[in-house]
Amino acid sequence: MSGKVAVVGSLNMDIVVNVERLPEEGETVHGSGVYEAPGGKGANQAAALGKLGTQVAMIGLVGADANGGGLLASLRQAGVDTRAVRMSKRATGLAYITVDGAGRNHIIVVSGANGELSAADIELHRQTLEQCDIVVLQLEIPLETVVYTLRLAKELGKTTVLNPAPARRLDEELLQYVDFLIPNEHELRVLTGRAELDEAGVPEASAILLGKGARAVIVTLGEKGCFYTDGRESEFFAAHKVVPLDTTAAGDSFIGGFAAGYAEERDVRKAIGLAITAAAITVTRRGAQSSLPARDEVDRFLKYKSLYDCVYK
Ligand code: RIB
Repeated sequence: MSGKVAVVGSLNMDIVVNVERLPEEGETVHGSGVYEAPGGKGANQAAALGKLGTQVAMIGLVGADANGGGLLASLRQAGVDTRAVRMSKRATGLAYITVDGAGRNHIIVVSGANGELSAADIELHRQTLEQCDIVVLQLEIPLETVVYTLRLAKELGKTTVLNPAPARRLDEELLQYVDFLIPNEHELRVLTGRAELDEAGVPEASAILLGKGARAVIVTLGEKGCFYTDGRESEFFAAHKVVPLDTTAAGDSFIGGFAAGYAEERDVRKAIGLAITAAAITVTRRGAQSSLPARDEVDRFLKYKSLYDCVYK
């Protein structure tokens, strides 16, 4: 039977502007459109899990405002248990996102309520952690809360997944509590203090993080796929070839897909397969939670892709 997942993290309302190209310093460019949509790395990862059919609960904070209500509604629609999302006196978190013509994004996050999530909130919802098998975190909430939650999750015997985003240096103590550390290349550089990483550099930098205590590292590499290592086995996995429209939440989709797959069979390779497919679909659609695939969409993508590969190989 599939395991349950708890996501402890941020919820943001995303304000997205589409531009053909990003402005240079001091330059003004015209945007082609602007819209608001539910996001936040924590909420996106929870929504990704819910849409893939995994039992998932979210622990987090929103403001008592319209954005908070919209974010809760979006999570519930994705099948996420939101009973452990509390309302704060602060405003709901916001993310200002620009997406250029090639689908690349720049994001500025204003934490709002997310900045108030404390160890006391985690204790208040301890039962949510006790009842799950896997705990997923990111770094858009206070770092002390991340450390507290990871330590508690390990004391409770849970599997932990940390997406170290947005990027920052981390203490070795925290890495001791991480079963699966999932950075992108930029986060890997920041975590290891490496300025540049070539193909050989990714395994080398990942080995540094294993040496600091993480039990396995998965580096997401965008259109190049991902790299996995646990110190005994190491492997590059290719991405599906797709035409990107908007890469926002691709990493969140990967992490939700990985946690969903791992909750099902505890098989790392199958979990990475699901993660790569979910992320490939996500980059072909606009927005964060709006771009995350449901399970039947993943199945259809794989079916038609294999037919296409048979015909055109
Ligand atoms: O990972 C994408 C997310 O990062 C966006 O939805 C935005 O809210 C920021 O948190």
